[in-house]
Amino acid sequence: MKRGEHVVVDIESMTPKGDGLATLEGREIVVPRSVPGDRAEVYLRRKRKGRFEGVVDDLIEAGMPRQDPVCVHFGLCGGCRWQDLDYADQLRLKEDMIHQAFQCRALTPERWLPILPSPDVYYYRNKMEFSFGSDRDGTLQLGLHVRERYNRVFDMEACHLQSEASNQIVDSFRRHCILSALPVYDLKSHEGLLRFLVVRDAKGTSQTMVNLVVSEYPSDAVDDLLSSVLEDVGKLITTCMVIRHAGKAQVATGDAEFLVKGDGRITEMCGGLKFEISPHSFFQTNTRAASGLYARVADLLGELGEADVLDLYAGTGGVSLHLARAARSVVGIEQVAAAVDDARRNAALNSIENCTFLVARTEDVLDELRAEEQERFDVIVADPPRAGIHKKALAGIVALGPPTFIYISCNAETLAEDLLILSAAGYDIRSAQPVEMFPHTPHCEVLTWLSRSPQWTGEIKGD
Ligand SMILES: C[S@@+](CC[C@H](N)C(=O)[O-])C[C@H]1O[C@@H](n2cnc3c(N)ncnc32)[C@H](O)[C@@H]1O
Repeated sequence: MKRGEHVVVDIESMTPKGDGLATLEGREIVVPRSVPGDRAEVYLRRKRKGRFEGVVDDLIEAGMPRQDPVCVHFGLCGGCRWQDLDYADQLRLKEDMIHQAFQCRALTPERWLPILPSPDVYYYRNKMEFSFGSDRDGTLQLGLHVRERYNRVFDMEACHLQSEASNQIVDSFRRHCILSALPVYDLKSHEGLLRFLVVRDAKGTSQTMVNLVVSEYPSDAVDDLLSSVLEDVGKLITTCMVIRHAGKAQVATGDAEFLVKGDGRITEMCGGLKFEISPHSFFQTNTRAASGLYARVADLLGELGEADVLDLYAGTGGVSLHLARAARSVVGIEQVAAAVDDARRNAALNSIENCTFLVARTEDVLDELRAEEQERFDVIVADPPRAGIHKKALAGIVALGPPTFIYISCNAETLAEDLLILSAAGYDIRSAQPVEMFPHTPHCEVLTWLSRSPQWTGEIKGD
């Protein structure tokens, strides 16, 4: 078997990234856009780290029925890879992938709870980041990334994951940017101006925040562009900012913000609570699914009564504020100062007085908390980024030794690795539940509930 050949394969399982996986002549073949049960003729496009990557030429037999995707960009776009699958099949695949991540590490929760579906299957995202690029003729493009091509953008007609207002705003920016002839930032030469457009739209209030990320500002040309866009679609925009990002990293954050319209914040409603969100603070991207997730966390913990809760990776206070009503106190830890400002404001906005928030990195603060408040926390909740919990933070959590630990994760692989460490340190996995927040993608949240067992010693073995 070699690169360039066509072979017929049977897809047996999924990779953790959500591609189909087949074995032929003892070699693994990763086949994007295939699912278990598929029999397909594939073209062996390349070989990487001992595995072939195949492209489906002909789907001979479908393991799951395929449907016409709603989006014209399906296949090209790096976003919705599963839009041609029925939503019930998507949920089944996600459940299997998450169970697999646990099983292959011999992790056995006492109970697996069924996946919680997203309340909305389309138009569920409250935040989208669009990139500027140029086509071969040098014409400006504004849209999303071509699948697996961090440096290629395609012009997006419409995205079915965010609101119609967001599509209109993107369209207006594209037209006015082309008219203004402002240069697109070039990833190789690091010259040019236009970098990203970030649109956030609150599902509960329909308020919209638009942030234009440019390499230089103040700039009269950018001001002229924004005046034209606001004249065109200003009624759809609650607040608008320019973010200046002169650095080389391809991220939509920056070194300075300039307010153009509104007060730089939008208000979202989630689970009956109000959340003010500013440009650099985290808020769960699927508001209605987040409300379900927070309700599940609150259910797991029941009536907390006298419980003191530590909420690690607190963002704008989503978990903290949802648990505050049932707990005696909640301390939230978050590394982004702007998010902590929002979280404090959100507590006040909802008349919640028993939550305090600290700006700190989790891994840096737990030893100090333990020295000051040993055995104070009855419950720790952690909701880290995809990389999982830092090893030092895991050690800190085990040393604090809360009777109950809730781990919310958006990456089953790093979650399972961290659970191995926590299990060995004396925590039992009482239940695990996939919580679906990202329809049409292979991503999924997992909510796990752990209890301190009699084997707990307060230390991670081998440390
Ligand atoms: C997945 S979000 C969870 C936010 C929150 N629990 C919620 O439901 O909205 C992760 C958050 O952790 C923060 N973060 C990332 N690394 C961190 C660290 N080392 N220490 C503290 N916070 C961190 C991010 O800024 C982000 O707000």
